[in-house]
Amino acid sequence: MAQAKYPMPAELKNEARLDPAKYQEMYNQSIADPDTFWSQHGKRITWFTPYGQVKNTQFDKDNVKIEWFRDGTLNACYNCVDRHLPERADKTAIIWEGDDVDEQKHITYRELHEQVTRFANGLKKLGVKKGHRVAIYMPMVPEAAYAMLACARLGAIHSVIFGGFSPNAIADRVNDCEAKVIITANEGRRGGKGVPLKANVDKAVAKGACPTVDNVVVFKHTDTQGDWNDDLDVWWHELIGDCDTDCPAEVMFAEDPLFILYTSGSTGTPKGVLHSTGGYMVYVSMTHEYVFDIREDDIYWCAADVGWITGHSYIVYGPLANGTTTLMFEGVPTYPDETRIAKIIDKHKVNILYTAPTAIRALMAKGDAAARGTKRDSLRILGSVGEPINPEAWEWYHSVIGNSQCPIMDTFWQTETGGIMISPLPAASDMKPGAAMTPFFGVRPALVDNEGNHLEGASSGNLVILDSWPGQARTLWGDHERFEQTYFSTYDGVYFTGDGARIDEDGDLWITGRVDDVLNVSGHRLGTAEIESALVAHEAVAEAAVVGFPHDLKGQGIYVYVTVVDGVDTSDELRAELIKWVRQELSPIATPDHIQWAPGLPKTRSGKIMRRILRKIAANEHESLGDTSTLADPSVVESLIDNRLNK
Ligand code: WTA
Repeated sequence: MAQAKYPMPAELKNEARLDPAKYQEMYNQSIADPDTFWSQHGKRITWFTPYGQVKNTQFDKDNVKIEWFRDGTLNACYNCVDRHLPERADKTAIIWEGDDVDEQKHITYRELHEQVTRFANGLKKLGVKKGHRVAIYMPMVPEAAYAMLACARLGAIHSVIFGGFSPNAIADRVNDCEAKVIITANEGRRGGKGVPLKANVDKAVAKGACPTVDNVVVFKHTDTQGDWNDDLDVWWHELIGDCDTDCPAEVMFAEDPLFILYTSGSTGTPKGVLHSTGGYMVYVSMTHEYVFDIREDDIYWCAADVGWITGHSYIVYGPLANGTTTLMFEGVPTYPDETRIAKIIDKHKVNILYTAPTAIRALMAKGDAAARGTKRDSLRILGSVGEPINPEAWEWYHSVIGNSQCPIMDTFWQTETGGIMISPLPAASDMKPGAAMTPFFGVRPALVDNEGNHLEGASSGNLVILDSWPGQARTLWGDHERFEQTYFSTYDGVYFTGDGARIDEDGDLWITGRVDDVLNVSGHRLGTAEIESALVAHEAVAEAAVVGFPHDLKGQGIYVYVTVVDGVDTSDELRAELIKWVRQELSPIATPDHIQWAPGLPKTRSGKIMRRILRKIAANEHESLGDTSTLADPSVVESLIDNRLNK
């Protein structure tokens, strides 16, 4: 589609920060002279010591180095909290909407300061110091943000673990970064049900499985009483009982780490993506302001979870750095029914809603019922993130949720990019349903073919980024070589996203999805290797191969091929047991949709599983299998097709 179908609404055009000419001018400057551009925009953040240096980066695959604002000092928590006290002490920083429709809280910036400083002093009592790692495994409650900010205040590196992960997954992440403390809650609430967070942590640390952990801090969120381990466990409220608000923010260099966030890759164990302080804060606050055209009185709602990068950058750090009122929602879009999102919008007069296509599709499945009895007339801008948004979902979001009044920012980015990379900008561009459109300032996207040749003009290929931007991840925790290998070695001298993309005749960008072995299931990023290793840990499984397949609601579903150990019967009971096993070992978000018994898997003569073929069979596209001549045993393919489920 060359023609823009949806123009930017006229009212927005008159008031917005940008117009097409202004965007182009700023973009051109950001590329032609990044030092001057970022030197100027870096000042949006409060620095204790101003920076003299700006960009110092190289994408050489054997020597990747990424430094921004190197000699400047600052504190991320100070920027999100203290600096707003003179002007915004009584402004609401966080609106919390509980899982239960009757539960809500408003926390002012003054209260945020009090809560964060007291908790930071509590962590100090436990011996937490600059550079220590602290794991956070929390429900969507304000205390999750307090915990992150308290770590940032002390210079401790937080590692938030999504509340849907299972004990083994928690232990892996805690051990990889050698966390000293785990912060959790006795229980979370989602969709009217309890989430056993503390019980999961208990299992993770049981029998000395997490030897570096000295304490587990437990926020009492519900009345449920679970097990208690006097050696480790400390109640949050008891810890801060005698703590005051006197807690100076640690002076951090721009390149001191702010947080680690584990994410899935093509191979191996999850990767501890490391973000540092200065560039990240500049980039997330600037993208937040420009992409959502934030105004002082806005009520802004990003409906993600703090366990993912979207929650870090666009629930906590970006909005709070900008002094915005950010809404945190504990529950799910369909509880108590499908009108919940629309009702929250009306209840809190939300101006900006940022959510994921998977949530949109779940609501769309109920027709227009999701908007029943609501007005949603406070909305000005909508956002989408996490996976490609199909045009039908885009149209529904636009017309039903947005009353056909609000532009949609389809924001493409990744855990590794720290902030939004490609998105329409109000009111710099018109919109095309399904297109991420234009790069943010300082971002230089390009397409390459599989050999790394740069593609010019309208084309499809692998999406790479040619030069560094301030919000970029600096390394993988404890493994810089893997960082270089994963992102900079596929194509020389550029950052490889792992995504495919298309540039249309107008020069606009469309993201087409991962081209590697990373799955995107309901907007959750999962590695096939992680699911496979959970499966082979089961005694009945000899070998497993996991691929994604197109799924109407989830975007991608999980299709598993299992070769059982000799002598084991393949039965429906075993299938059910394996599904349960993966949920327990890894996470319910990794629940397989289909398990197919596979007497053999298609392998090359060197023993590599040919996933391309497995993907085609899973998607029911056996007609276009492509070349199978390099297989060690081509007959395996025939038998897999014969056995395919739902045939
Ligand atoms: C996908 C989430 C298409 C993409 C912020 C990327 C998208 C992965 C979009 C990163 C979008 C994210 N359109 N695809 N607007 N946004 N993706 O690390 O495949 O959880 O590589 O970060 O999500 O997922 P992650």
